[in-house]
Order: sequence, then structure tokens, then C-alpha cells
Amino acid sequence: MTAPLHIGVIMGSAREGRLCDRVTAWVVRTLQGENGLRVQVIDPRTALPAVENHHGDSTMTVKQRLAGMDGFIVVTPEYNHSFPAVLKQLIDSAYDEWQTRPVGFVSYGGLSGGIRAVEQLRQVFAELHAVTLRDGVAFADIWRCFDDHGELVEPGRAEAALHRMASRLRWWARATREARLAEPYEQAG
Ligand SMILES: Cc1cc2nc3c(=O)[nH]c(=O)nc-3n(C[C@H](O)[C@H](O)[C@H](O)COP(=O)(O)O)c2cc1C
Repeated sequence: MTAPLHIGVIMGSAREGRLCDRVTAWVVRTLQGENGLRVQVIDPRTALPAVENHHGDSTMTVKQRLAGMDGFIVVTPEYNHSFPAVLKQLIDSAYDEWQTRPVGFVSYGGLSGGIRAVEQLRQVFAELHAVTLRDGVAFADIWRCFDDHGELVEPGRAEAALHRMASRLRWWARATREARLAEPYEQAG
């Protein structure tokens, strides 16, 4: 039996009253029991010492939170046709930890569903030698997507899209983990 793959779910927003809590909780809930994946949330409020927060351990660095992950899911809103500054700060706080890792996206926003944020993130992750996945989930008009209990109003297509992305992520996470073991990535330069 192969060891489980560790997947970091990166929260893209640190805003007071953020909807990122709902979207991230849905991702974690939906992926519970997903074959071979162990998900762990990474929140800029607690992972970035410089970000004001009232939620926990601000001494835990980003590198410690990212270390040992085999892949990532970035949960990002769109802010002014891009992704939030706090997400860039989190990404820029590490380097080796991103290399060769697959990255999938769950985005949300107004009309665009956050896809402009995702397209910009693809450029950033390419520079970090990460592999971004084609398949993802995008929620347009995010204010109408969840009910008062945090459940999706229309779960069908989004759940199917998330499971599909998780399958792709598992494939890439396993393949890149095996490749790193066969030859350290630094030697391929
Ligand atoms: C500063 C700011 C800029 C935004 N710009 C966009 C935008 O360009 N396109 C869009 O679709 N939604 C935009 N929105 C709407 C957000 O995507 C939406 O409010 C989302 O809930 C923000 O994520 P959060 O609540 O987790 O912080 C913007 C929101 C904020 C706060």
C-alpha cells in the first residue's frame, strides 16, 4: 500500500468576514475520505507572522506549514481582476516547498468566478517550478452559492468538478513524489 499523499489547502483570503471560510470548509468536507489524500488547511492568518490575526499561532512559519506536502489546492477569490495580496505574500514566503508540486484551484468571485485570479496564479506557480492543473472549480456569484448552513445550494456540478480535480491532483502528486525520490529535482537543472 502506498503512503497517503499530503495535500495543503491554501486559503487565499485573510479578510474579516471572508467567504473563504465557507468555500474551504466545503473543499475539506467534500474531500474527506477521498482515496489516498490527506488534506490540511493552511490559513494566511495563522501561517504568516506579519498578518494581523486573532485566530491562533502566529509563530508558525509558512515554510513549516508547507513542508512535506505532496500537492496543493489554492482556494482563491478574485480581487480587482487578480488574486489577494495576502496570497502572494504567502506564496513568496517559500520556494523549495512549491517545486515540482501539483497545484489545483478552487476560485470564486462575481461574474468571472475568479478565473482571472487563477490565470495569474498559473504564471506565478510556473516561476516556482510547480505544475498547475487544468481541471478546477469556479464559483460565479459566490454570494448565492451557499445557504445559511454553509451548504452548497446546487452541489452536483461543483462536487463532480472537485472530485475530478482531486483525481488529477492524486495522479500528479504521486507521479512527482516518485520522480523526486528517483532523482532530486535540483540535479535536473
Ligand atoms: C477588494 C475586492 C475586490 C474585488 N474585485 C473583484 C473582481 O475584480 N472580480 C470579481 O468577480 N469579484 C471581485 N470581488 C468580489 C469578491 O470576489 C468576493 O467579495 C469574495 O467573497 C471575496 O472573497 P473573501 O470573502 O473570501 O475575501 C472583490 C472583492 C473585494 C473585497
